[in-house]
Parts: sequence; C-alpha cells; structure tokens
Amino acid sequence: MKTFPNDFLWGGAVAANQVEGAYLEDGKGLSTSDVQPQGVFGQVVERVAGDSGIKDVAIDFYHRYPEDIKLFAEMGFSCLRVSIAWTRIFPNGDEQQPNEAGLAFYDTLFDELAAHNITPLVTLSHYEMPWGLVQQYGGWGSRQVIGFFERYARTVFTRYQHKVKLWLTFNEINMSLHAPMTGVGLPETSSKAQVYQAIHHQLVASALAVKACHEIVADGKIGNMLLGGLVYPLTCKPDDVLEALQENRAWQFFGDVQCRGAYPGYMLRFFRDNGIQLEVTDADREALKSTIDFISFSYYMTGCVTTDEALNQQARANILNMVPNPHLASSEWGWQIDPVGLRNLLNVLWDRYQKPLFIVENGLGAKDKPDTEGVVQDDYRISYLNDHLVQVREAIDDGVEVMGYTSWGPIDLVSASKAELSKRYGFIYVDRDDSGAGTLARSRKKSFYWYQEVIATNGASL
Ligand code: BG6
Repeated sequence: MKTFPNDFLWGGAVAANQVEGAYLEDGKGLSTSDVQPQGVFGQVVERVAGDSGIKDVAIDFYHRYPEDIKLFAEMGFSCLRVSIAWTRIFPNGDEQQPNEAGLAFYDTLFDELAAHNITPLVTLSHYEMPWGLVQQYGGWGSRQVIGFFERYARTVFTRYQHKVKLWLTFNEINMSLHAPMTGVGLPETSSKAQVYQAIHHQLVASALAVKACHEIVADGKIGNMLLGGLVYPLTCKPDDVLEALQENRAWQFFGDVQCRGAYPGYMLRFFRDNGIQLEVTDADREALKSTIDFISFSYYMTGCVTTDEALNQQARANILNMVPNPHLASSEWGWQIDPVGLRNLLNVLWDRYQKPLFIVENGLGAKDKPDTEGVVQDDYRISYLNDHLVQVREAIDDGVEVMGYTSWGPIDLVSASKAELSKRYGFIYVDRDDSGAGTLARSRKKSFYWYQEVIATNGASL
C-alpha cells in the first residue's frame, strides 16, 4: 500500500485578516475585510475611528506570532500556510512604492518560521483587497487593478524570494460567484456579466503572478486555490446527473483556466446562453498561458444538486445552494461531513489535471468548551480530521500525487463567513469570545497531541 511520502508537508493554514488584528498598525490601509466586520457575506460599513470589529484584534497574531509558531513547531509542523495582507504592503493599492514597515513584518514572520524549520506557503490574496482600490477603481471590475496586483506580487516575490518558495494566488477564487465583495470587490447587486468580467481580470492577474513568480523566485512553485465544492446528483435521474456536471464545472472552470491557460468550451456556451460578452484582449489570452505548477484547494463538505425546483427552493439558505445529502451528518453549522468526498475530490482533480495537489484547508468548526481542568476534549474534531486523513491516504494509494495537508485554523481564529470566534477550528484554544472578551491566552486542546502523533509517525497513527 502506498502512503504519505517522506517529504509530505504537514501543518496548518491561517489568513491574515482572520488572525493578525493590528488592522491599522504600521501604516496598514483598510481592506475589504476591514469594512465587512460581519464576515464575507456581511454588509459593507463605513469605518469610523475608534469603532471596533472582532477582526481588528482577531487573535493578535501580529504581536503573538512567535508564541504561536513555537506551538506549531511543538506539534511538528513542517509547513504553515499564511497570507500577506496586501494593504500592509500597498495600503491604498495604487502606490508606486511599498510600505517598508509592512514588508518588514513579514520578513520577521518568515524568519521565525525558518528558525523552526517550518516551510511557509503564502497566499497573495486571501479574501481581502485594498478598500482604496474598490472605492477609487471599482475593484476587480477595473482592468487597472490587474497592474496594481502585479506590482504587489512582484514586490513580495522580490523581497521574499529567498524565504518563500511556495505561493498561492487567490484564495478560493471561485467564491467570487457567491461573495462578490470579498472575491472581486464588487457590490452584491452586481450582474453576472460584471462578476465574470471582474473574475476574468483576476484570472489574468493570477496568470501574470505565475509568470512573475517563475521569473523572480528561483525554484519557486505557485499554485491556485479552489474551494473544492464537489457536488453529487441527488438522484440517478439523468437530468440530475447533468445538473451535477454543470455545478461542478461552475468551480472547475477556474481550475481549467489556471491549469490549461484558456477558457473551456463549456464556458463559452455558458456565456452565450446567459448573454454575457466578456472583454478579452489578445494580451489577456497570451497572459493566461502562464499556468500554475500545482493545485491547492479547501475541502469541508459536499452537497447534492437536483433539477427538482421544490427541493431547490429549500436549499437557498445554504451558501452554495446545495441540497442536503440524506446519507451524511452535519456540523453545528450545517456543513455536511463527508470524508470519502475528499478521496473522490482528490481523484477528480488528479484525473482532470495530472498536477500535484495540496489540501490547504480542511477542518471542523465547533463550539469548544474547556473542561474543569481548562482542557478542550475535542474528540469530535479528532474523529473528523482522522477520517479525512484516512481518505487522503486512500487517494495517495489510488495514485494521486499529494504534496501536503494544512488543516484550517490550527489555532482558533475569526471565522470568515460570520466573523465569529465561537466557531473554533484549532488544536490550540484562544481565550477570546464573540464579544471580544478574554485574555487571548493560548492553550493546547486534546487534538493538539493527536495531531502531534500523526505528524511524528507521518500518518501511520491514523
Ligand atoms: C474557507 C476560507 O472558505 O473556509 C477560510 O478560505 C474560512 O477563510 C474557512 O475561514 C472556514 O469558513 P468559516 O466561515 O467557518 O470561517
């Protein structure tokens, strides 16, 4: 039986806006995340000096990262996925020169990781962009933003070329279809045509970043990042099967462009059927030819689709409009738990692209309660993660090439969808609640020791 390779990267994943806090410190500008204090589906609010949202401090990683990295090292991490807050480097987004204090912060962060032999995997844009670019240019709706992003990408590739070899472009790039403000800086009321045009600009920017990374970072590798939203047909009715094919293509389209360098035929039909005329220049077509080295994705759940309208109406409450699968249990937030789905997804992506895969998010959000000794006995999290990792091992045995696994939120952090701290993912508990009360002290949960063992045995303890 084939199992985890010796150079498999084990670790966790966080995002700047969900952990760092320090939202205006050292010259940082406001980002789209800062003006959406209620999360990625929340309203945009005007920030007033002195007001506060939970993300403004988050878990104070900006000041406490040495302590956190020490704990990650104690678990045996060989990799940590972080993101750079674009607004620390270019506060408004359109400056000619970067903000040195922002660049210096990530230098010290990467040095700290190196001191603990932890490989950084860095996302250029995780659910945030400079708010200045939204206000002054209309977000990714404007072509000009491509150039601003390329300048940002080239700046960080140049600065960190010796410290960071693994990069990702846009977090869950397909989420722009569901949360346009977070994804592409467009109002929720935008038309499909506007959203796809903005996505097109982002795909071109992603490809230009790939090109820049290859030019600047010797031995660098750069991937995309998809929300792996695998859906199943609710029934074996051929119409349901076709519906599932189309729903899966709605997200696979991003991977197809990023891996193959051109728009697939089914999307050209989709645009025609929906009366969408994209502005695509020859230079865009040329740019898209710079394709990624590996595919990364998040995986939390699967769902079902059907052409049955009555059932679809009930599903509208769910973020991905998926009909619940009657064979699966759900998390406290209604996310359906499907470990075998991860094996399916890994095989689907491998068969489709034949490029190495990296699972850069997976985990269980739950309301943890410390026991009388102050320890969180999170057996539910251990069993979720264990079951998923067993399926990763199965996929490796199926012949799928998997580079690594970074669980989501190895330390409790602010949730993206609802900006809650009570939705906890960590192996490390953080003493802070949804109102912002708490000491921010860190403590090890039961799962901390479980993951430590998994890493120490390279998965043999699963
Ligand atoms: C992914 C995002 O969608 O899922 C993360 O990339 C996010 O930013 C994670 O935190 C879990 O979602 P949530 O809403 O539970 O935080």
